[in-house]
Amino acid sequence: MVIAVLNQKGGVGKTTTVINLASYLAKSGKRVVVVDADPQGNATSGFGIDKMAMQFTLYDALLKKKSAQDVLTLTNQKNISLIPANANLAGAEVEMTNIHGRENLLREVLHGVLADYILIDCPPSLGLLTINALCAAQQVLIPIQTEYYALEGISQLLQIVQKIQANANPTLSILGVVMTMYDQRTSLSKQVQEELKKHFGDLLFKTVIPRNIRLAEAPSHGLPVSEYDKWSKGARSYKLLAKEVIDRAGE
Ligand SMILES: Nc1ncnc2c1ncn2[C@@H]1O[C@H](COP(=O)(O)OP(=O)(O)OP(=O)(O)O)[C@@H](O)[C@H]1O
Ligand SMILES: [Mg+2]
Repeated sequence: MVIAVLNQKGGVGKTTTVINLASYLAKSGKRVVVVDADPQGNATSGFGIDKMAMQFTLYDALLKKKSAQDVLTLTNQKNISLIPANANLAGAEVEMTNIHGRENLLREVLHGVLADYILIDCPPSLGLLTINALCAAQQVLIPIQTEYYALEGISQLLQIVQKIQANANPTLSILGVVMTMYDQRTSLSKQVQEELKKHFGDLLFKTVIPRNIRLAEAPSHGLPVSEYDKWSKGARSYKLLAKEVIDRAGE
């Protein structure tokens, strides 16, 4: 199953969700491939990989005819491989513009990749890289930061998903919406949660990701939080989210 983790708003917890969801899916025995589709390369460095030292990255697969096998690399986590990214990818959207079938380049790259779950970490935009992720995916997972402007931009995001469903990728669906950086001490968090429940109903995951410093620290050690502090609230919440994802994926 290919899941695009998407929200065009920056800093809402996309990469943190990709890394830690991947980690707990892998721990329950799933073979996971993480695709770093963001020129920031945060998912790449989050697995302790030196993104500037990579010979080949997603860029080479999208635009230089490298195969997925050429660009896939092992991570420090059992059962998780990665297609890395770095700043090279920033130029990709421009270079892709004139290619026929430019929306389906990622889908083609991922065609022969064997995995139980492929998680795509999208950049904070609705540009061509994100469109490629949506055309390659079967499911969309939307992290939303628990803040006053949580829903801002979401209707635009959902419109794009609908457009892709109507044209390029009819089987695309929304796996769910997960609240991130929840602060249980504030009534604002509670309020935003109620609002999101109203808006998304059952699409909202029961698991809520709290604001937790361990989640923010782990990437600087090149580790998922499961390896950095597995008893932290952040770790336990991502473990629960992985369970919910497996349930929803219909296994
Ligand atoms: N639940 C959390 N608790 C505390 N800090 C968090 C949490 N989730 C993410 N962070 C931190 O917030 C920042 C943004 O998170 P992250 O990089 O996952 O967001 P993003 O949506 O991928 O950002 P971008 O749009 O730039 O790719 C990071 O410094 C991350 O470590
Ligand atoms: Mg990110």
